[in-house]
Amino acid sequence: MSDLFSYYYFRPRSDTKPEDAAIAIAEEETTGTWTDLKTRKDYVKALDGSVEELHAEGDGYVAKIRYPAEIFEPGNIPQYLSVFAGNLFGLGRLDAVRLLDIDIPEKLACFEGPLFGMKGVRRLIGTDKSGRPHVGTIIKPKVGLTPKDTAEVAYNAAVGGVDFIKDDETLTDQAFCPMDERIEAVMGKIDRAQGETGRKILYAVNISDRADRIVERAERALEHGANTLMVDVITCGYSALQALSEEMKINVPVHVHRTMHGAMTRMPEHGIAMRPLARLVRLSGGDQLHTGTISGKMGHSPEELKRDNEILKEDYFGLKPVFPVASGGLHPGKVHAEISGLGCDIVLQAGGGIHGHPDGTESGARAMRQAVDAYMEGLTAQEYAKDHTELRKALEKWGVR
Ligand code: 3PG
Repeated sequence: MSDLFSYYYFRPRSDTKPEDAAIAIAEEETTGTWTDLKTRKDYVKALDGSVEELHAEGDGYVAKIRYPAEIFEPGNIPQYLSVFAGNLFGLGRLDAVRLLDIDIPEKLACFEGPLFGMKGVRRLIGTDKSGRPHVGTIIKPKVGLTPKDTAEVAYNAAVGGVDFIKDDETLTDQAFCPMDERIEAVMGKIDRAQGETGRKILYAVNISDRADRIVERAERALEHGANTLMVDVITCGYSALQALSEEMKINVPVHVHRTMHGAMTRMPEHGIAMRPLARLVRLSGGDQLHTGTISGKMGHSPEELKRDNEILKEDYFGLKPVFPVASGGLHPGKVHAEISGLGCDIVLQAGGGIHGHPDGTESGARAMRQAVDAYMEGLTAQEYAKDHTELRKALEKWGVR
């Protein structure tokens, strides 16, 4: 495969034939426009896009479009997106159009990918042999806590048994919780928890910021002791990930949140599916990526999610696999459904499902770990809860899915 192929679901406008609608996509994103051009020299034809396949599906059609590799600038993801995810979404001849997936040729996959990847993160935590799912938490409330109180919550979660703690997507460097002070407070408590428990715990600090400042912010976070960085990839852009993994060559994992993705991924007929977005995260260097849950609070198709998680882990240009993260509305009663649906190579994150435990954060973290242990021992959560108080109280509050 030497060119790039994109797959679109679309519904043409009632006065447009499906073949013409598919051609309109290929033309708009390569050498054409709405009319013929006097400036179109013969040699430009080599860069024409083409419709390779077209078939009916559901209420619409699926087209496979070929984009010649030469129209792409290797390594420039913003430019890639402008082609296969560009103007086409606004074309009036299409009532709806959704980018389903992309096949990138090797010469355009010129990225270094994750520095740690799933196996590297597992080695840091020490789960490479057991292969159990990781348990993570998002500090809640998502905004408002002071650095000192954030650190206290982190400590309680850490001693309770989580492997991973993260800022929420809207917390960056606000006055109520300045980043430098927060990192020092949280890492101080994490060091203490690590000393007490003998376990390694990662804390991902959200460094999302404008393009010209993100590297400086990452450097500052590392200077203050951060052992993981977090980026909101849709709002910051893929360039932010590349800046960290390729420019800075950071020596800590990068956790990737996808806040705002629902505007693109949620509608089954229009937008951008998670799959191409996930592929780009892998190329541009994310080590962990939120992809969704089977039973959580965000709506999406479980079938798509399962395949999205697989593509993060299967062979892809020799790049390290990305650790998929299930997050949003999880609690101990949902752990079984998540692991049986998504497998053990998953980070199970709970914010409300830990900090909302009747006995507080530490017990909430214990309950999440107990739910994972139950699964690993082949027991149901209810069976395990009989002699695990924290899990029992969690199930009493939230039930079992
Ligand atoms: C996330 O970052 O995925 C959400 O903040 C999850 O929060 P929740 O576990 O309370 O739904």
